[in-house]
Amino acid sequence: MSEKREKLPLNKVDGKVVIITGASKGIGKAIATTLGEAGATVVLAARTQNTLDKVVNELTDKGVKALSVPTDVTDTKSVESLIQKTLDSYHKLDILVNNAGSGVFGNVVDFPVSDWDSVINSNLKGLYLCTKSALPTFVSQGDGQIINVLSIAAKVTFQASAAYCAAKAGALAFTKVLSAEVRQQNIRVTAILPGSVETPFWEDIPQHPDFDKMLQPEHIAETVLSICQQPRGMVTEEITVTPPLGIL
Ligand SMILES: NC(=O)c1ccc[n+]([C@@H]2O[C@H](COP(=O)([O-])OP(=O)(O)OC[C@H]3O[C@@H](n4cnc5c(N)ncnc54)[C@H](OP(=O)(O)O)[C@@H]3O)[C@@H](O)[C@H]2O)c1
Repeated sequence: MSEKREKLPLNKVDGKVVIITGASKGIGKAIATTLGEAGATVVLAARTQNTLDKVVNELTDKGVKALSVPTDVTDTKSVESLIQKTLDSYHKLDILVNNAGSGVFGNVVDFPVSDWDSVINSNLKGLYLCTKSALPTFVSQGDGQIINVLSIAAKVTFQASAAYCAAKAGALAFTKVLSAEVRQQNIRVTAILPGSVETPFWEDIPQHPDFDKMLQPEHIAETVLSICQQPRGMVTEEITVTPPLGIL
């Protein structure tokens, strides 16, 4: 075909209102910074208020419009309050980035039930609660986007990682079901599956991969930005991001 095609216009992040969970450090902080610097108004959620406020102050100093909302994503009321405070402040919500999560690792035989619950709740229940609370706004706007930061562990299993792998695999299944349920309402849903990323996530985990070979949080932030900017008429359902050497 020789006919010249028009370039599809990219979606703009400028002026969008975006909630990022787990935004006080690591990948979430990088996502908030990258989207904020691209012109989005960013609402940062995590449990620890002083860490969150510090990041919001850093962003505000750079001229980014940012709001700190201390939130536990595993708690229904806390999550509902996050959505309400966002709507009270900015009167709309364009994008939800479900990024909050935690890892505790150990063999099943020794793994405490409390650790099982905390891994499943922060990585899976939290994603469901945030999504469920945001959806009515997206439906009434007739527009919305949900980006779930999962892990390669949604598809590849690792030793001593049963709870984490189960939570991420469950979150990937959830993402796919949700995507099919809401695409008619113009709500785009994407799962990002990163390999290892150099963040505080690994601080208390002695057997971690080599930091020199990991991705940087900014790699995931750039992936989120590019998904937000994708033109209308397409949905990226799932994207895997690994470093050049392919370590997971
Ligand atoms: N680092 C990696 O290698 C890697 C690779 C693939 C995927 N991931 C995934 O990427 C996401 C971010 O990881 P990261 O490496 O940036 O971790 P991180 O540096 O440990 O940061 C985790 C963030 O989540 C927040 N958080 C944890 N539990 C929460 C809860 N119940 N409610 C609200 N916020 C909560 C933490 O703040 P508070 O503790 O103050 O709440 C923090 O802001 C996670 O879902 C993780 O599973 C990480």
